[in-house]
Amino acid sequence: MTEWMPLYKELEQYGNSDFYPYHMPGHKRRQLGDIPERILKTDITEIDGFDNLHQAEGILREAQDLANRLYGAEETFYLVNGSTAGILSAISAALPEGGHLLITRGCHKSVYHAAYLRKLKFSYLYPKNVKGFEFSEAVTAGQVQEALRSEPDIGAVLIVSPTYEGRIADVKKIAEIVHEKGIPLIVDEAHGAHLGFAEGFAPGACMAGADIVIHSVHKTLPAMTQTALLHVNGTRVDRDRLKRFLRIYQTSSPSYVLMASISDAMEFLKIDGKRYFADFRDHYLRLLDRLGVCKVLQFVPAEDIFDGRQDIGKLVIGAGNRRDISGQWLYDQLRERYHLQCEMAAGRYCLAMFTVADSSEAYERMEQALLCIDEELFTESGAENVRDEERAMSGTMDESRGKIVLPEVCYPFSAAWDLTWKRERLGDAVGCAVGEFVNLYPPGTPILVPGEVLTQEIYEQILEYLTQKLNLQGLIQEEGEYYIRVLRQ
Ligand SMILES: Cc1ncc(COP(=O)(O)O)c(C=O)c1O
Repeated sequence: MTEWMPLYKELEQYGNSDFYPYHMPGHKRRQLGDIPERILKTDITEIDGFDNLHQAEGILREAQDLANRLYGAEETFYLVNGSTAGILSAISAALPEGGHLLITRGCHKSVYHAAYLRKLKFSYLYPKNVKGFEFSEAVTAGQVQEALRSEPDIGAVLIVSPTYEGRIADVKKIAEIVHEKGIPLIVDEAHGAHLGFAEGFAPGACMAGADIVIHSVHKTLPAMTQTALLHVNGTRVDRDRLKRFLRIYQTSSPSYVLMASISDAMEFLKIDGKRYFADFRDHYLRLLDRLGVCKVLQFVPAEDIFDGRQDIGKLVIGAGNRRDISGQWLYDQLRERYHLQCEMAAGRYCLAMFTVADSSEAYERMEQALLCIDEELFTESGAENVRDEERAMSGTMDESRGKIVLPEVCYPFSAAWDLTWKRERLGDAVGCAVGEFVNLYPPGTPILVPGEVLTQEIYEQILEYLTQKLNLQGLIQEEGEYYIRVLRQ
């Protein structure tokens, strides 16, 4: 290959050439099922001229270098198994086996999985709820500082920013605090691959000084599912160890279609990013402004975006003071009546995601649907349920969901997950250590981690969630009865 060409074009050109494939994949570029030949033609493996992800020296090295220049990282790795593979690798490389990791309690399950595999010890950060809503803020610098002071053997910190609902942490300040201790900061920026590309967007964590940053390219950029990036800066994390873990957790046959999709998204950022992101910001802020007339439905105010605390694109649609309305109801209304498919529904809100790839139609349809739903709710409910900023912001929302119940740990998690368990009726399991996660979905925050005790307080919290018909994972339901796995020891 002589002249530089985008990866996808290289694949297309090769697929149309007269080279016959006496190699994997087994479809040999022929359509024998339903997947069109055009897609199969670009699906190759590491053949001559196409480099090797696990030892990139050619076109994949160049493609990764473009990504690190865009994000201001020293080195970047393509991931074909999502941020999941990046988080597993980052944590494994940053700490020795048995090390001590400081995390947000509500972080993604891959963090827990890394801790299990590497037998890590945890300490938790518990961010407060966003005022008037039932979801968490990002962690604060003060919380990190306090935890590092009280637990001197913490060897690495992992924070999530932006969160699923778009809350953004002060990564710069947190990085300074973490680095004062000489330990690495890993930022799970899975929801923030788009940050920093135009005025009005918060800066990305690489620019803010994080040692490792993980991006799901597929979540907020125009890229295919599973595509992600891991960026590394400085010397606090050994790069050879990091590469070793990337080899362990990623497939030895990375999909070139996925890698071409990452490369495509990076080219888009380089060439058209600024213009598209400025448009995206304007569209989104206009939508928020127009939704300001809603009398019942509740949204995170635009001021939070201007203050850099809330991301552009994550539209949280809250039920406000209508206690009889759930996030699932809002989600179902948007889906069934308007054919608007949201990202998720939670207890008292649902979440619609906008990205740089949305057209004006996406904003218009959402605006009309929400204005219409709001008007109906207002007409039927009367003045007493009208949104009242004072009341909403002073935390009249469901306190039970936001309440922090500190765990009582009986066995360390990484050991507990391997211990034998038995099924116990939920009501009879109070006082027992559990053998499986109990999570509240979404976003998946653990109520119980294996090895923790089902206390009376947590039991009552679980009952409350079940009454509210929230999605609790980790319980077994049989003939109207709930069971839980408890450790035999
Ligand atoms: C905060 C966070 N981190 C990491 C992940 C994992 O990302 P991926 O699906 O790219 O593996 C998710 C997925 O939802 C997430 O929400």
